[in-house]
Amino acid sequence: MTPATANKDGSQEDLPRHLAIIMDGNGRWAKARGQARVQGHRRGVDAARRATTLCGEAGIPYLTLFAFSSENWRRPDEEVRFLTQLLALSLEKELGRLHENGVRLNIIGDPASFGRNLAKTIDRAVEKTSSNTNLTLTIALNYGARQELVTAARLLAESCVAKELTPEAISEADLERVLNTRGLPDPDLLIRTGGEVRLSNFLLWQLAYTELVFTDVLWPDFDETIFWEAIAAYQGRQRRFGQIGEQVESQSGIG
Ligand code: IPE
Ligand code: IPE
Ligand code: MG
Repeated sequence: MTPATANKDGSQEDLPRHLAIIMDGNGRWAKARGQARVQGHRRGVDAARRATTLCGEAGIPYLTLFAFSSENWRRPDEEVRFLTQLLALSLEKELGRLHENGVRLNIIGDPASFGRNLAKTIDRAVEKTSSNTNLTLTIALNYGARQELVTAARLLAESCVAKELTPEAISEADLERVLNTRGLPDPDLLIRTGGEVRLSNFLLWQLAYTELVFTDVLWPDFDETIFWEAIAAYQGRQRRFGQIGEQVESQSGIG
């Protein structure tokens, strides 16, 4: 993996620093082929590998993948069991390659609920890759943004009880410090595959000013073309953060 930062056409301009992806549509991909849903999840792992490689090659330093939501426990036991095993096997299989490519693995959510086997695999992978600096790959496992915010509220309340903080002094930075994503920049671009136009409880705080790209492409079909189409859509947006367009243009030296 080359550390160069470049668009597909070789230009360096305006890549997202943090790309987040809601990887949706595995089940429908399989169904359309007359296969069991789990086959879609298998192919979904290949797509996750492609996304990681593409970010590494482009020089995007943060990639966050939504792999399992707090609400996905509502699925049949058999599918949850399959996903748990697939996650553990895939992580073991990919670990060597991730490490060679300078990828640092980070987990958000509550992966302990998946059992000891996956927890051990995760601990080993996070530990082994902890000094890598090319790409921080965050996988959201048993993650829900509302649960994250409730936990954050509890932690801040505890700090107040312990007199480390006063309620009126609580700042955005204090809240960010108690989120799962502490230390990560907010996503610049979110891609959701699979045709649904919703956030499904993903990174509700962090996505406040993120550019959103929704595509009907099902996750197992995610490839280089879709990746660069989403980046091009991002590059065509004007991020105003509440300002008016002329202000943003004069700051960027375009206007
Ligand atoms: C996304 O694909 C993977 C997970 C949520 C684990 P789905 O399994 O949601 O696929 P669809 O949306 O049913 O097609
Ligand atoms: C969102 O997909 C969660 C992940 C991709 C892990 P879902 O398939 O669970 O979302 P809903 O249920 O359609 O909102
Ligand atoms: Mg889905």
